[in-house]
Amino acid sequence: MSKFYIETFGCQMNAHDSEKVVGTMLAKGYTQVESPDDADFVLYNTCSIRDKAEQKVYHRLDTFKNGSGKGKRFGVLGCVAQQEGEAIFEKAPHVNLVVGSASYSKLPELLVQLENGAQRVTGLSLDADEAFETPLTRRDNPHKAYITIIEGCDKNCTYCVVPFTRGRERSRQSSSVMDEARQLVDLGYTEIMLLGQNVNSYRDPSSEGWDFATLLARIAEIPGLRRLRFTTSHPRDFVREIVDAISENPVICNFVHLPVQSGSNYVLERMDRLYTRERYMECISWMKASPRDIALSTDIIVGFPGETDRDFEQTMRLLGEVEYSSIFSFKYSPRPNTGALALEDHVPEEVKRQRLLALQEHQRQIQIRLNENLVGRLEEVFVDGFNQSTGQWIGKTSQFRTLNFTVPANTVPVSGSLAGQYRTVRVTRSGPNSLAGEMLLSA
Ligand code: SAH
Ligand code: SF4
Ligand code: F3S
Repeated sequence: MSKFYIETFGCQMNAHDSEKVVGTMLAKGYTQVESPDDADFVLYNTCSIRDKAEQKVYHRLDTFKNGSGKGKRFGVLGCVAQQEGEAIFEKAPHVNLVVGSASYSKLPELLVQLENGAQRVTGLSLDADEAFETPLTRRDNPHKAYITIIEGCDKNCTYCVVPFTRGRERSRQSSSVMDEARQLVDLGYTEIMLLGQNVNSYRDPSSEGWDFATLLARIAEIPGLRRLRFTTSHPRDFVREIVDAISENPVICNFVHLPVQSGSNYVLERMDRLYTRERYMECISWMKASPRDIALSTDIIVGFPGETDRDFEQTMRLLGEVEYSSIFSFKYSPRPNTGALALEDHVPEEVKRQRLLALQEHQRQIQIRLNENLVGRLEEVFVDGFNQSTGQWIGKTSQFRTLNFTVPANTVPVSGSLAGQYRTVRVTRSGPNSLAGEMLLSA
C-alpha cells in the first residue's frame, strides 16, 4: 500500500484544504506517514503570499534532487502550484503532480493517472464554479473544526496573489454549511472556525440568500456549540450586523481579525483596499461600543511602494488608537502578476526592515499594557493541551489570547487530560504574548 506524507504552508484555508486532501488520500487507500523519508508520495501544500513562503517549497524539493528522492513521487499543491503551473516541472523535474486548490475535487482521478504510469499530471483549472466540499475531510483536532464558507477572492489588492491563486469568489450554500456545522457538533466538536479570504462577502447562493451576519448568528444557535470564530474579514465589507451578532450571542467569540494593512489613506488607495482610514476606524468604533469586550487583531504591510515616513507614522498612530491584542506584520514583497509591480517608488530593504522593527516594538509595548490589565480577571479557556517543559496547561480565551495555567497544588489531582475541555482560570501574570494563571477548582 502506498504511503504519503504531506506538509502544509500558509493560511488556515490551506491547513483545512490539507485536511480534505488527507481524507481523500486515505479514502483512496493510501496511508499517511509522519516523515517524507518513509513516504512513497510526498506532497507539499504551498503558499505564495510572499517570496519567502514561495521559496520554502523549492528548498524542500531541492533536498530530494540528487537521487535521494529516487522511487518517490512528488506533488505540489496549493497557491504556488496554481501560480507557477507547469513551470514547476522545469524548476524541479522530479515533481509528478501539480494541483491548484480549485482542482482538489479532481484529485482522485489525477491519482489514478499517476498510478497508471503517467509521469506528469496537472490540475490547474481556476473556473471550478463549486466550492470543494467533501465528506472525507480528516480533521487534525478532535475538538476544533474549520469550515470553509467561501472560496477565492474578488478583491484586487495590488500587492496580493490570492485572486490569481484561488480564483473568483464562490460561496457555499447555507444549508450545506449548516449541515456540516450540526454534524460537527454531533461528533463532539465544540469550536468551529468559519473560513474564507473574505468571509464578509459571503452570499448564500440558494434562495435563502443569507449574508454573513445571518449565517454567523444561525450557526451560533446550534445547541452544543461553545465557540464560533471566523476569519478573515475585509474592512470594506464589514458591517455593523456582524458586531450585533457578536453582541447578542456569547457563543460567537469576542475577537475580530480585521486587516488594515496601512494607516495612511495614500497607501491604502495605492493598495486598492477600497476603504479609507476613517471608514476602518468606524468599524473599530462599532466594536468598541459593543457591550462585549471585543479583542482585535490585524495585518500590516510596511514598505509598500511610495510609503513615506509620514505614511508609516500614521500606521504607528493607528496601532495606538486601536490597541490590537496582536498583529501580523510583514515587509512588502513584490509578487508575480500583481498591480503593484508597476509602481516605481520602491522602499529600500533597509528602510522596510527598520519600519518593521519599530512597528513590532510599538505593538509589543501595547500588548504588555493590555495584558497587564487582565491580571486578576477570571477567564474561560478552551484547553489545547499540556506543555511538558513548563508543566502548564495551554488554553485559549474567547479573545484568542493564550492563557497558560496550572492546577492548584494540594488539591484533588486532575485525572486524565483537560484537552478539549473548558475551564475557568484566574489570570495571575502577564507577558507581551501570553497570560499565565491558576485554574479555579469550583468551575
Ligand atoms: N484575505 C485576507 C488576507 C490575505 S493574506 C485579507 O484580505 O486581509 C494575509 C496577509 O498577508 C495580508 O493581510 C497582508 O497583510 C499580507 N500580504 C499579502 N500579500 C503580501 C505581499 N505581497 N507582501 C507582504 N505581505 C503581504
Ligand atoms: Fe488578497 Fe486583498 Fe483578496 Fe485579501 S482581499 S485575499 S489581501 S486580494
Ligand atoms: Fe498563502 Fe494561498 Fe493562503 S498564498 S496565505 S496559502 S491563500
